[in-house]
Amino acid sequence: MGDSLNMGSGTSRIFSGQGTTETNKLHYGETASFFAEEIKKRLPISGEPYVLVDLGTFKGELLADILKLLPKYKFKTIGVDINEEALADNTVVDSKVVANAEKLPFNDRSIDIAIMRYVLQWNVIKVQKDILKDISRVIKRFALLEHNGPDNVHAQEWRKHSDGLLGGSRVAKMGRKNYFFASAEEIEKWMDESAVKYERLRNRIIKDYSNIYIERYQLDSQEAQTARDILGSMDYIEQTDWVIFSK
Ligand SMILES: C[S@@+](CC[C@H](N)C(=O)[O-])C[C@H]1O[C@@H](n2cnc3c(N)ncnc32)[C@H](O)[C@@H]1O
Repeated sequence: MGDSLNMGSGTSRIFSGQGTTETNKLHYGETASFFAEEIKKRLPISGEPYVLVDLGTFKGELLADILKLLPKYKFKTIGVDINEEALADNTVVDSKVVANAEKLPFNDRSIDIAIMRYVLQWNVIKVQKDILKDISRVIKRFALLEHNGPDNVHAQEWRKHSDGLLGGSRVAKMGRKNYFFASAEEIEKWMDESAVKYERLRNRIIKDYSNIYIERYQLDSQEAQTARDILGSMDYIEQTDWVIFSK
C-alpha cells in the first residue's frame, strides 16, 4: 500500500507503546494490558489453541505485547494487513494474510477471537462499515476493538482541524488519503444499522493529540509547532474500546 511509505519513521517503536510522551503512553502503551485483561475475563484457558486474528497487524507490535501477557494461553495467530511490506516484516504471527479487512477470507465463525486497533479510520466510511460487519461474521467468540477519533459533540470541527494536518500541505511528511475519523457514537450507529452486537468497554479523552504525529513522524520543532497550531483547540483525541460479539 502506498501509505506504508509515509506512516512515519518512529512508527514501530510507538506502536509497541514505547513513545515518550504521556499522549503516546495512553494512546498506544496501555492497549496490550487492557486487551489481555479482557481476554482473560472472557476466554477460559484451554489445552487446545484458540485462533486469534490481528486485523491491521502491521509488524505485529501490539500482538507481541499482548501474547507476552497471556503465557497460559495457546493461540494460533493470523495477521491480516493490506500492507504487504509491513506484513513481510511481521515475525510475530504464525501465518499471514494480505487482505482488506472489509472482505475477510475466513469462513463464518471460524475465528475464535479477533483484535483490531486503529484501523477503521484509515478507510473510507463504506469500507469501515463493511469491516465492522465482516468482523462479526467471522468471529466465534468475540473481537476487541480500539479506535481513536473525535468526540461526538465536536466531530465536524475536529475533523476540519485534523484534515488541515493530514492533508499534508503544511507539514509535508504527513499527507494521508482516504481516511475518516468517526466518533464513537457514529461507529455505534453504523453497528446498530448492521445489527452488529457490541458493548462499549472504555472511552476517554487523551490530551495533546499532536504529540502522536510529532513522535511518529519525528517532526522538527518548527513542524511540531505548526502541527499544534493547526489542531489548536481540537488538539485531543477520544479513545474508545469495544467488544464485538458474533452475529
Ligand atoms: C495505524 S496502523 C495500526 C497497527 C496495529 N494494529 C497497531 O495498533 O499497532 C493501521 C494498520 O492497519 C492496516 N489497514 C488499514 N486499513 C486496512 C484494511 N482495510 N484492511 C487491512 N488492513 C488495513 C494498515 O496497513 C496498517 O498496518
